[in-house]
Amino acid sequence: MDISRIRNDFPLLMKEPTAYLDNAATSQKPDCVIEAEKSFYVNHNANTLRGFYPLSMEATEIYENARKTVRDFIGAPSDKEIIFTRNATESINLVAYSYGLTNIGRGDEIVVSIAEHHSNMLPWQMVARVKGAGLKYLECEKDGSFTDEAIDEAITERTKLVAFTHVSNVLGLCNDIGKVIRRAHDCGAVCVIDASQSIPHMKIDVGENDADFLVFSGHKLLGPMGIGVLYGKEKLLDKMPPFLTGGEMIDSVRRDGATYAALPHKFEAGTVNAAGAAGLAQAMRYIEEVGYDCIRKRDEELTARALKGMKDIDHVNILGSPSYKDHNGIITFTVDDVHPHDVSAVLEADGVDVRAGHHCAQPLLEHLGVRSATRASIMFYNTGDEIDRFVRSLATVRERLGYR
Ligand code: ALA
Repeated sequence: MDISRIRNDFPLLMKEPTAYLDNAATSQKPDCVIEAEKSFYVNHNANTLRGFYPLSMEATEIYENARKTVRDFIGAPSDKEIIFTRNATESINLVAYSYGLTNIGRGDEIVVSIAEHHSNMLPWQMVARVKGAGLKYLECEKDGSFTDEAIDEAITERTKLVAFTHVSNVLGLCNDIGKVIRRAHDCGAVCVIDASQSIPHMKIDVGENDADFLVFSGHKLLGPMGIGVLYGKEKLLDKMPPFLTGGEMIDSVRRDGATYAALPHKFEAGTVNAAGAAGLAQAMRYIEEVGYDCIRKRDEELTARALKGMKDIDHVNILGSPSYKDHNGIITFTVDDVHPHDVSAVLEADGVDVRAGHHCAQPLLEHLGVRSATRASIMFYNTGDEIDRFVRSLATVRERLGYR
């Protein structure tokens, strides 16, 4: 990978002198993605799916082609199974309100892994509360992994839905989603996979993993903010009621009711984010050009370099697996006696951007016995020098805050 050529594609990386290590929160955007979004407004802007004049038809074509790009990128069999949303959170809420409230009832159970981001936990708490269903947590080991026994014990014949993350936004560990999906299906349940942190780092194939629903945000995948994806199996989406109602999601409307549009438009009420979809499609083409094999290699190289340096610093504790292979670019850690906000302030003073706090995963942190932590998260465009700057700065944190 020619890293200086790659970095040249990212205008902000060229402009900002800081080492950006908060990629799990949002990635930087290459020029071609910014241009794809801009070009929609400069050259093709009109409302999609509504007009029969050329500009509107062009806008529709760009939007629907973006859907095909997403479909191919994740190996979905049909365009009907790709719903554009604002982000992963909205995708999960769509499933919770539309599938959950319709198919889950009293006496049923929802299983949520303890490693979920709040966005794949709160919607299920809501469904359980409203429908009087049970909510069970699937507990992980210290390194974030799930034992076969824990999976088999949590997911049973009473389970109707399992919410499970592919890669934890705190620990970075890639879970064996195939095992969980198989167990869910054996018990007659459906599985919602949060792929927000995995898809920037590894190939996702919904045909292979057999997920019922899979969600992700565009903005972590080099795409624009405000565009996300819900993949759902056609046979499930087809039977689900709309989540939001209003413009463009109808077949016909009478005074006393309405019939709804076919998939995928039934789930895309109102004016859509066509420019964002064009940007996301371009981001996917960019990722394909770089190649997931190269991305994986780069993630491992940089993570190994960071972990090696961090392990030599006293009082730094890394959450999750000790192996660089298990982090997918995400390294969360604590520094004895120092609040993560102070750790991040010291790093920031040395030109290193990281995230500090509970990472929208409070139950996971509590399970791991930690109140809050600092997270450095890596993308393929980061450099070895940036990692070294982070490690050098981290080594000085305690001393600069008055600890020996
Ligand atoms: N979900 C994002 C993160 O983990 C915002 O930082």
